[in-house]
Amino acid sequence: MRHITVNAEHEYKVHIDEHFEGVLHDVSQSHSKVFILTTQYLADTYHIEKFLHPIDNAVIHIVSDGEHQKDISVLEGIWQAMAQAGLTRSDALVAIGGGATTDLGGFAAATWLRGISWYAIPTTLAAMVDASVGGKTGINSHAGKNLIGSFHSPSGVFVDLRFLKTLSDRDFAAGLAEVIKVGFIQDEEILNILQSRNTVDSAREVAEELIFRSISVKADVVSQDFHESKLREILNYGHTFGHALEKYSHYEMRHGEAVAVGLVFAAELSGKMIGLKDEIIDLHRSLLKQFGLPISTNVPFGPLLELMRSDKKSRGAMLRFIGLNSLENPHWLEDVSADLLQATYERIQA
Ligand SMILES: NC(=O)c1ccc[n+]([C@@H]2O[C@H](COP(=O)([O-])OP(=O)(O)OC[C@H]3O[C@@H](n4cnc5c(N)ncnc54)[C@H](O)[C@@H]3O)[C@@H](O)[C@H]2O)c1
Repeated sequence: MRHITVNAEHEYKVHIDEHFEGVLHDVSQSHSKVFILTTQYLADTYHIEKFLHPIDNAVIHIVSDGEHQKDISVLEGIWQAMAQAGLTRSDALVAIGGGATTDLGGFAAATWLRGISWYAIPTTLAAMVDASVGGKTGINSHAGKNLIGSFHSPSGVFVDLRFLKTLSDRDFAAGLAEVIKVGFIQDEEILNILQSRNTVDSAREVAEELIFRSISVKADVVSQDFHESKLREILNYGHTFGHALEKYSHYEMRHGEAVAVGLVFAAELSGKMIGLKDEIIDLHRSLLKQFGLPISTNVPFGPLLELMRSDKKSRGAMLRFIGLNSLENPHWLEDVSADLLQATYERIQA
């Protein structure tokens, strides 16, 4: 068992183990009631109800699958179920699922009674390395992705590697996009490891190391800047363009797939603005392509620009991006003009 400590809002640990059943038992012992949030697929495949059977203070609530669960109507259903269960301030929520479920569950916990404890049991690579750690919670709306949310740290995160066995190659690769992002901004060794693993199957063999390294970077960054006043923004490398693309696709693209294209966009923009070397820009393309991730798009530029303007990093009319000076050396790109963005977009157009 390995663990990483995060010190943001309060101190908590991310445990990497194969023990989610025991976690459910332990959490139920430390609260008078636990509200378990998960999807039908995970409940059925991992027999979650069976493990809850001896636990008489747990309520299970099933939410719809994928990105569509990050919706106000689903959240409303959770609040109603929490009211029905009589959930009080000393109770807790446990979110078992991908990043969509941990974002939604964390936000439900943040908003119920102005904040109750919650625990994350991430079941996708993206949720293990990124979404479940750091306390950013939220839902989507017509206005944009993740614009409604709250900073609300979990009390514990339990990464059980067995969940990855049922994760599709498509979803594993989507999670690798976030791992590759961490490699570029802060841990070059991740890129070295992945360069010698040219298929998803082969990357799966080193999943634990990739997860440990990625979480360690995230834990360090959010412990220094929990509320994203500046440093934490580096974790959004590739995300301004990525979020726009993801929303434009009506969430048909996985988050990580959209981020993959966003990483190439951010690298190209860095080349134009701060002289990021061509060989590092090329490394973005080759690594992402290696795992079948998209590296270009043919979505029209106009709507993407509009969506990028609603990004959380924008300030007034000013568009801001996280760029890269060199490996492990992120840089803030301020006041980027629409013309420059258009020219950059042309370099990643399919
Ligand atoms: N809060 C943060 O800091 C943060 C960081 C990164 C990403 N995110 C969010 O995370 C979400 C993306 O995460 P995701 O890719 O995990 O999406 P997701 O939760 O939609 O999961 C992707 C798919 O995997 C399936 N799945 C989940 N676990 C599985 C398993 N063990 N076996 C088989 N299938 C499984 C899901 O049902 C879904 O169809 C986005 O909403 C993104 O905004 C948040």
